[in-house]
Amino acid sequence: MIYLKRPQELARMQEGGRILASVMEDVHREVRAGVTPQQLDKLARRGIRAHGALPAQLGYRSYPASICVSPNEVVVHGIPDDRRLMDGDIVSIDFAVIYEGYYVDMARTYPVGGVSPEAMHLIEATREAFWRGFAQIQPGNRVGDVSHAIEQYLRAEGLFAVRDFVGHGIGRSFHEEPDVPNVGEAGQGVPLRVGLALAVEPMVTLREPRVEILEDGWTASTGAGNLAAHYENTVALGVDGPICLTEGAEHRP
Ligand code: MF3
Ligand code: CO
Repeated sequence: MIYLKRPQELARMQEGGRILASVMEDVHREVRAGVTPQQLDKLARRGIRAHGALPAQLGYRSYPASICVSPNEVVVHGIPDDRRLMDGDIVSIDFAVIYEGYYVDMARTYPVGGVSPEAMHLIEATREAFWRGFAQIQPGNRVGDVSHAIEQYLRAEGLFAVRDFVGHGIGRSFHEEPDVPNVGEAGQGVPLRVGLALAVEPMVTLREPRVEILEDGWTASTGAGNLAAHYENTVALGVDGPICLTEGAEHRP
């Protein structure tokens, strides 16, 4: 079942998206060598609540924290621990909030201090892959157009779209239909209609995209040395065209 949102509902999601983006920026400011993922989690949880929102991930399927912090080769779902981030690491931060009954979801990958040129390319190309997908959020297009644009761009950059995790519909629930894979066929899949809200989230690796789940049951890792990045926004097709609901102070470069 696909739930299309009325303009008033999308407006609420946009308010939640502003809160999410601003807490993400607060977390970003604290990303530096020496900080621990648990410190970032605490900061985010407080910030979310201070804005009158709820941390959507805390307790979701028994997940033990408010944010996912995924360093280096961890693709998604890293559980915040007390190991300090180090200069040269990259770190993906992924979290969602519930505001006035609506979910919004967002992820970014940040460099910690100075990182290698290939790590920086991975981060920047993952962001650009999102925007290539976003450009396909148009009436008459289908989900496959979004997936295909992301896949094609990443392939041209010599990078790999992870297949084991996908983007998703979002709104009254965290994960709604349809799935939004990061690989796919143009012209296929669910039509993009006004009111459709999606979390579009390329997850990208430097080398082959195989992912394994570690013993904690959450951490999704590529294995040693194969860095991963993640860039996610909640987007919608509004009556006046595509909207990025989780855009903060940062904008498309
Ligand atoms: N934010 C993730 C997503 O994009 C879901 C994380 S589930 C959690 O769908 F339990 F780890 F929080
Ligand atoms: Co998501």
